[in-house]
Amino acid sequence: MKVEMFELGHVQDEKLKYAVIAALFQEQWVFVRHKERDTWEIPGGRREQDEDINTTASRELFEESGAEKFTIKPICDYSVTVKEEPSFGRLFFAEIEELGDLPELEIGEVRLFKEIPEKLTYPKIQSILHKWVLSSFEATNLDKRKIVAKVEKAEWNDFFRQRDLRLIEPEAFLVNNVHLLQTGSVLDIACGDGRNAIFLATNGFQVKGIDFSSEALERMRYFAEKEGTYVEGKEIDLRNAQLLKALDRFDNIIINHYKPTKDVLNLLPMLLNEKGILLICTFNYLQNVEKGYPREFCLEKEELVDRYPELVLLRHESFTDARGYFDGYIFQKNE
Ligand SMILES: C[S@@+](CC[C@H](N)C(=O)[O-])C[C@H]1O[C@@H](n2cnc3c(N)ncnc32)[C@H](O)[C@@H]1O
Repeated sequence: MKVEMFELGHVQDEKLKYAVIAALFQEQWVFVRHKERDTWEIPGGRREQDEDINTTASRELFEESGAEKFTIKPICDYSVTVKEEPSFGRLFFAEIEELGDLPELEIGEVRLFKEIPEKLTYPKIQSILHKWVLSSFEATNLDKRKIVAKVEKAEWNDFFRQRDLRLIEPEAFLVNNVHLLQTGSVLDIACGDGRNAIFLATNGFQVKGIDFSSEALERMRYFAEKEGTYVEGKEIDLRNAQLLKALDRFDNIIINHYKPTKDVLNLLPMLLNEKGILLICTFNYLQNVEKGYPREFCLEKEELVDRYPELVLLRHESFTDARGYFDGYIFQKNE
């Protein structure tokens, strides 16, 4: 099964057969459970004959959740391809003001979730659509960004809380290129629970790791102590890129498995000391094409090759491993 996302209007109107509505009520996500299932899904359903797709969305939201007063807007189009047979739909975002009684139809239960529930109907499709809604906020509305940040932060905290208490191997792209780094300090942006930061600290670097997940930072502190080393952790939400300006300057910056926003990318050169090294390694566009990972979080083909006139590109590699498709870049700041 393949899920693809398209800009709004990219799919011909008559091909759109489904409307799916990610909806917030009192800052929580509305998920619904079909009477015959024990899994959760985003409200949505099939377009009726000659129905406007926007009407489908409003009708389905009411029928599946009981939402009586809400604002709704389209986000993007999508396709789900099974056995080479694509079906198309439109994804909407709604903010519900009033939830009334649930109409006596197919849905058995409506529940509010702070983050996407674990037991999902069609988990791959639902999680991609949910992530897409979250990422679409980034470009549009400041208040929503707060909600998104809160939800994503809770998701990441849960992720780290549930992870085995075991430090995983550092990234091979970093290990293989560590000789290119300048002696001295490192800023690890979106450091997670510290596999790379701790590897660098045990190799003589002074490392600061920043991330918005307090759980991740707590684990990093624990692992560093266990390894007999030290990494300074700082909780920073990178959605507010300006916070980076208050940091020191570094001999190296690494960003692994996280696609920085444009604002963060813009600030990186000024955070580097002269001759400083910037290493970025994360999913590339093939992760979207082949695995349906949201395009937003993938580097486009050669996206960073000409990104920094003030930096020299020392290395650029596209590679594949068991986790997927990656691009790695290493830049150096000129005098
Ligand atoms: C896939 S993990 C990568 C962790 C680490 N760099 C590694 O290679 O193992 C992505 C990290 O980005 C962090 N993150 C996501 N959005 C963030 C944000 N807005 N601000 C700060 N950290 C964020 C998450 O908490 C998570 O630790």
